Amino acid sequence: MECNINIKYEEYDSPQRLTLSERRLLERAVEAVAGSYAPYSRFNVGAAVEMENGEIISSANQENAAYPSGICAERSALFYAHSKFPDSAIVAIAVVAAVDGKLTETPTYPCGACRQVMYESQQRGGKKIKVIIGSATRIQVIDSVNGLLPFAFDNLPQ
Ligand code: THU
Repeated sequence: MECNINIKYEEYDSPQRLTLSERRLLERAVEAVAGSYAPYSRFNVGAAVEMENGEIISSANQENAAYPSGICAERSALFYAHSKFPDSAIVAIAVVAAVDGKLTETPTYPCGACRQVMYESQQRGGKKIKVIIGSATRIQVIDSVNGLLPFAFDNLPQ
């Protein structure tokens, strides 16, 4: 039996084509890049998380001389959002990256670890999390974390 997974996403050539709330969230992710601490990779990432209660939490990647101790922008924002508002679902996340103060030409997709954390955020909230990935040339909107992480790990015994 052959099975297929269909990943649906939208692509836009300008933020003007996004909905107002999508555009605002993307702007917050762009602003968050300023807080990136990335002296080792020089790759600056910003993320902004929108919660069901209307709160927007943004953050940026934070590196460390002991490399594995650093944290990606997405996980920093997601964990802070959950710790601040544990009872509110996360409904969207926007991510952008910049090098030398300029947004990357193509979308920078979340790493595997961040996808797994996003997936659990989605399970926890019981609502699809919309993922908005920006760049200098195009913006992609994926309607759920499942589009980024099919076959997610979700099998711990209850
Ligand atoms: N990084 C993020 O913040 N998010 C991602 O999704 C990909 C990678 C950060 C981690 C590290 O500080 C730098 O980008 C280079 O990998």
